[in-house]
Amino acid sequence: MSTPEFPEFPDGFFFGAATASYQIEGAYDEGGRGPSIWDTYCREPGRVAGGATGDIACDHYHRYREDVALLHGLGVDSYRFSVAWPRIQPDGTGPANAAGLDFYDRLVDELLACGISPAATLYHWDLPQALEDRGGWRVRETAEHFADYAGLVAERLGDRVSRWITLNEPYCSAFVGYAAGAHAPGAQEGRGALAAAHHLLVGHGLAVGALREAGAQEVGITLNPDRLLPATPGSPADLAAVRRAETLHNEVWLDPLFAGRYPQHEAETWGEPADGSHRLDRSYRLDTSYRLDGDLELIAAPLDFVGINYYRPITIADAPHRDHDPATRTAVDIRATETWRDDVRHTTMGWPVVPHTFTDLLIDLTKRYPELPPLVITENGSAEADTVTDDGRVHDTERIDYLRSHLEALSAAIRAGVDVRGYYVWSLLDNFEWARGYGQRFGIVRVDYDTQERIPKDSYRWFRDLIATHRTRT
Ligand code: NOJ
Repeated sequence: MSTPEFPEFPDGFFFGAATASYQIEGAYDEGGRGPSIWDTYCREPGRVAGGATGDIACDHYHRYREDVALLHGLGVDSYRFSVAWPRIQPDGTGPANAAGLDFYDRLVDELLACGISPAATLYHWDLPQALEDRGGWRVRETAEHFADYAGLVAERLGDRVSRWITLNEPYCSAFVGYAAGAHAPGAQEGRGALAAAHHLLVGHGLAVGALREAGAQEVGITLNPDRLLPATPGSPADLAAVRRAETLHNEVWLDPLFAGRYPQHEAETWGEPADGSHRLDRSYRLDTSYRLDGDLELIAAPLDFVGINYYRPITIADAPHRDHDPATRTAVDIRATETWRDDVRHTTMGWPVVPHTFTDLLIDLTKRYPELPPLVITENGSAEADTVTDDGRVHDTERIDYLRSHLEALSAAIRAGVDVRGYYVWSLLDNFEWARGYGQRFGIVRVDYDTQERIPKDSYRWFRDLIATHRTRT
């Protein structure tokens, strides 16, 4: 393979692959694991495509050695996995469940034996159901319990895990889980979702403290900032909708974390409209009583890096009556809707492939938030209609194109001065894609869910060669 096909990265830039507990582990009732909100949600009829659950998933709990061998063959520097809170504290509180910690202990040691640096995400959406029963992220106690849990994990693994991520995409936890109802716990609440957003950030801040106390090395959070574009460039109504979407998607998270303030355009984004005409959730007001003195300082605890998950841009149109459509209604109604683009390819998720928006987003972020710590790309990848051909292989040229073009876009951002330290591909394995079930395949390794056979795809070999080439260049 000739080297020009691989984008270039600076000395010391690292590569990895990422997964998450509920999406791959299975073994939902083993080792003393308690139920999570996703176990519950998957069992509610109509929630997940095909009625799928994570009960077995990729059976990684039993096959982790084989999966670490795949990482080893890939030549990655680091592996990003998540710890399932209900394995560590089956009810979300109290002492650690030894069998749960033991599993991650074995995984970490296996990684280190292969020369792979472990990066642990503490919350990738699998909240213990017992905590949801007590209010979930709507209540502050959950944030406090999260810090206790973080401390338990860091005390055990802190000597060997080099990179810690408190939360993964809190946007999804708060707004997809508590406002749109399209993720667990499936709630559609305005105030509940906004309180959840705040308590997630408080939980992050408290967890940073617990991690530091336990001697954790690098600590960060993973966000999914969006590149938001108006459906009709120059349309004042669409631009106003983009402004509202900036608050919801980006500023709710980035402003408290990196600018020491709450978002500046809250009132125009979701304040009660003068005529009261289009609220789904009448209980919602711009009520911020869940914000306590000192929270901003807590949330803005200094970080060593910020993780960025990036997949696609979102094209936004004004939608004044969005909540009249039951298919798209969400309890935090910002009167904006996502529109389809005819000019580009879409992945099987229906996501447009527009690589330069990755460069634009990263440059824009560093301009808007001068206090941003160094970036790590904690996820990027694509779901494609893979097939196994007669030669027993998966020739996933679309995924290779996606990865190459996005890595080129990343390399361009670095050349433009953005400080990015590493890149994790999503995902090592095909896995449980949340409400979309098993139909969406993001892996660079195919998983046959009947036999649990792993088949490295062409993209696995491409990524392996990219990493090897990077090593010879630097
Ligand atoms: C982001 C989430 O963190 C991950 O769990 C999910 O599978 C990917 N996006 C793809 O949707």
